[in-house]
Amino acid sequence: MLKIGIIGVGTVGTSVCKILEENKDIITARAGVEIKAVSGVVNNLSKKRDVSIKLTDNVDDILNDDSIDIVVELMGGVEKPYDVVKKALEKGKAVVTANKALLAYHRYELQNIAGDTAFEYEAAVAGGIPIINALRDGLSANHIVSIKGIMNGTCNYMLTKMINEGVEYEAILKEAQELGYAEADPTFDVGGFDAAHKLLILASIAYGIDAKPEDILIEGIENISSEDISFAKEFDYSLKLLGIAKMNNEEVELRVHPVLIPNSEMIAKVDGVMNGVSVIGDKVGETMYYGAGAGGDATASAVIANLIDIARAGKSSPMLGFKKPLESGLKLANLDNIQTKYYLRMEVEDKTGVLAKVAAILGAKNISIKTMVQKTSVEGRANLLLSTHRSKELDIKNALEELVQSKVVDNLPTMIRIED
Ligand code: HSE
Repeated sequence: MLKIGIIGVGTVGTSVCKILEENKDIITARAGVEIKAVSGVVNNLSKKRDVSIKLTDNVDDILNDDSIDIVVELMGGVEKPYDVVKKALEKGKAVVTANKALLAYHRYELQNIAGDTAFEYEAAVAGGIPIINALRDGLSANHIVSIKGIMNGTCNYMLTKMINEGVEYEAILKEAQELGYAEADPTFDVGGFDAAHKLLILASIAYGIDAKPEDILIEGIENISSEDISFAKEFDYSLKLLGIAKMNNEEVELRVHPVLIPNSEMIAKVDGVMNGVSVIGDKVGETMYYGAGAGGDATASAVIANLIDIARAGKSSPMLGFKKPLESGLKLANLDNIQTKYYLRMEVEDKTGVLAKVAAILGAKNISIKTMVQKTSVEGRANLLLSTHRSKELDIKNALEELVQSKVVDNLPTMIRIED
């Protein structure tokens, strides 16, 4: 029998206990041994919980218990779980975590500490979707050309409702919180940080890149307006928060931001709280993964898959997929050089010559306008909604600054990248 100690018995921890019992027959047959949750750590011992394991509020009760074989870390946060996971690994206990923020910051240190001790984290990215397994094992013969993922269910739920039902941002954020999709601090969701944590984990497995959230472009969905939504609808685009990794020669672009994607693309059809990840390998071509990215049972499904894997193998594959460093030494790309199409929204005065000035500023930076819609907001003011042909990111940034400096616009225009 393999004995499990769960640190953090909340929604996911409770589901882990429940599924280990309910699906005991198939889990035991697949693992070759019974996997049993025996104890758990909680902050508040007086809160009633739907589990029959022994509970404590002292993490050392699990770390110092020699009968516990595997520690499941479900605490959330970064530094506290780092200490706990480090201690567990140092004591030779295998660890399974669902903690994406922990891995976004400490995955390389933890890989070193773990050595040959199993350390698994399938549930940390896209919940129940086995995307770590796919990248680390199933696609390991490929150079990964790109990864495009909808990896935050809260944002996807919000954007889907805004597009399909015209619900306003604040109302829909509240609903996502009530439904339990959002992080304790929803800024992590709407600010793009949660998706960035997940992207960084995938980028290490795909490219061996050791980057932190501070090193990459992260934009959230906080500034999306109803005008942007109506532009998307008018031009048959879907609006998604994507985590994007793309390899260009020796460089890798890593970025998280809202994206307009043609409705015909598969990833555009991933709606509501669901997650979806498209991975293109140089040999396999495009592969697509879809499923629940959050929720107790879906996340616990991934946690238990790792437990079964550890039971079978005793030790896992190299934690981040590489047994030795990649010789090409891929580097993070400078995003000023990326080229894509752009959507721009700017509020201007509705009078003769304004449009000509906007076009002149964009034209001087080699930015060619593809479509343009003008919507009158209040008398004498207008919203210009433009899309461009393929342009350079630095040229767009410079043009937007010049629009502000020349006082053609009052505020920095909103810019959303178009990926098609
Ligand atoms: N807050 C996250 C989401 C939970 O909305 O996807 C799963 O990581």
